[in-house]
Amino acid sequence: MVADSKECPHGRATLVIEVIAIGRLGGCPRNHGDRNGSFLAGNRLHWNGFLSGLRKVSTLPSQLHLNVFITGAGHHEASWRLPGTAPERVDDVHYFREIAQTAERGKFDSIFFADVPAVGRHYDRVAQSSFEPLTLLSALALATERIGLIGTVSTTYTEPYNLARQFASLDHISRGRAGWNIVTSWSSAAAYNFGVDGRPGHSERYARAAEFLDVATALWDSWEDDAVVLDRDTGVYADARRVHRIDHAGAHFRVRGPLDAARSPQGRPVLVQAGSSADGRAFAARYAEAIFTAQVDLDDARLFYRDVKQQAAEFGRDPEAVKILPGLSPIVASTEAEARRIEQDLADLSIPEVGLAHLSARFDDVDLSGFPLDGPVPLYALPRPEDVQGAQSRSRIIFDLVERDPGLTLRELLHRLAGARGHGTVVGTPEHVADRIVAWFEAGAADGFNIMPPYLPGSFEVFVDEVVPILQRRGVFRAEYEGTTLRDHYGLSRPAGLFSQVPVS
Ligand SMILES: Cc1cc2nc3c(=O)[nH]c(=O)nc-3n(C[C@H](O)[C@H](O)[C@H](O)COP(=O)(O)O)c2cc1C
Repeated sequence: MVADSKECPHGRATLVIEVIAIGRLGGCPRNHGDRNGSFLAGNRLHWNGFLSGLRKVSTLPSQLHLNVFITGAGHHEASWRLPGTAPERVDDVHYFREIAQTAERGKFDSIFFADVPAVGRHYDRVAQSSFEPLTLLSALALATERIGLIGTVSTTYTEPYNLARQFASLDHISRGRAGWNIVTSWSSAAAYNFGVDGRPGHSERYARAAEFLDVATALWDSWEDDAVVLDRDTGVYADARRVHRIDHAGAHFRVRGPLDAARSPQGRPVLVQAGSSADGRAFAARYAEAIFTAQVDLDDARLFYRDVKQQAAEFGRDPEAVKILPGLSPIVASTEAEARRIEQDLADLSIPEVGLAHLSARFDDVDLSGFPLDGPVPLYALPRPEDVQGAQSRSRIIFDLVERDPGLTLRELLHRLAGARGHGTVVGTPEHVADRIVAWFEAGAADGFNIMPPYLPGSFEVFVDEVVPILQRRGVFRAEYEGTTLRDHYGLSRPAGLFSQVPVS
């Protein structure tokens, strides 16, 4: 272990401890030791041993990011049955407007909607919204001012030209608040709506996604930033020399371009990615600016964080320009007993068949109907996570969960997954939930969190009113927005256009 000192961005010297085998740990005393009098208090422990021989200490931000993942009546599969939720409003745009405005009141970086282009597996047992994400986000753009707007679109069942113009539109409409959650669609159900006989294989989907990104990026950049000259006198609206065909011809797409949209306020939407398998990480390290991931174990989350940042560095990217946000579903109440009571109420309202079908879908639709709910989880009947063609990383989490707790019954596993489908959960008082968030942040496991309210709108309102102020008081979360775009909120720079360097002769 080697120790030296260094100036932190707040003008104070910080101790930097190099732990040879693990990486480098350092702390910037953002609050200058005013919390508990501790040197590391209020600071972010971080490491930068991505690459052997890297000596420079990275100054990771001391501020965490918060995204809220909004879905139906909440993330718990029984949320729509809980008194106080509003399943009758999941097709009411004002319901989502109110939630988005709550998030903006809490100074969240962004709101997010997932998407599977197929009817839900339990459309008869779960309240699900009818809204397609980009349509909904366009409406919410006009009902909010600052918050980022992230929507999911699949690269497997769309074309880059359509997608590029949709996100360019959303970025223009929202004045620079658009983000795209890039997914390859793990669910087999979607395939049958797009003339495909079965879902394409895992690596095949990621290969298409990579080419998709290259095409979409070129399309967003096909109009240079200063292409619109708008000269009424000469009658020149756009400088044709600054609008480019992309002439892409690849394995999956042939696209001429240019896009039928001027470059948008952010240049490109913020690129978010949500698959954590080996293929998914490699893809994220190359393209993603923010990563949603399911992590339940702190050590695993730190390894994931480290691995993705290292891979990003190997692609020549700044690891700090890749924000990692594990999911967290918090049940918050003024006492722990009250929070536990809500947790139990939700568990009592769960329907085992719903959870069982969801579990089966995670393992490529393996039939689990014959196994007793109060017997052990039949791991032997499940495909190995690395062989799963759908959601590899999520099946890995479930597998690990059972391997760590071999006495778990099938029913108990379903209860554990009912709240957040394998994402992290926390139950307790606002202080307890804030402690969990700060602990993971300071341990170098996250740049922020993807908050997944178990039931809506109640659990999210409690989070914003009770947990966010604690995070603000502890100095790890903004009290006011500083910028106006989603890139500003996440501390991401606006990308230069691919064609910007081409001189106009
Ligand atoms: C927070 C979060 C949101 C996700 N949203 C979607 C979604 O809207 N649509 C989808 O098909 N998959 C979604 N996924 C699943 C991932 O995109 C991915 O398919 C899955 O994690 C499996 O990827 P992997 O095999 O690389 O692990 C989401 C995952 C996470 C962590």
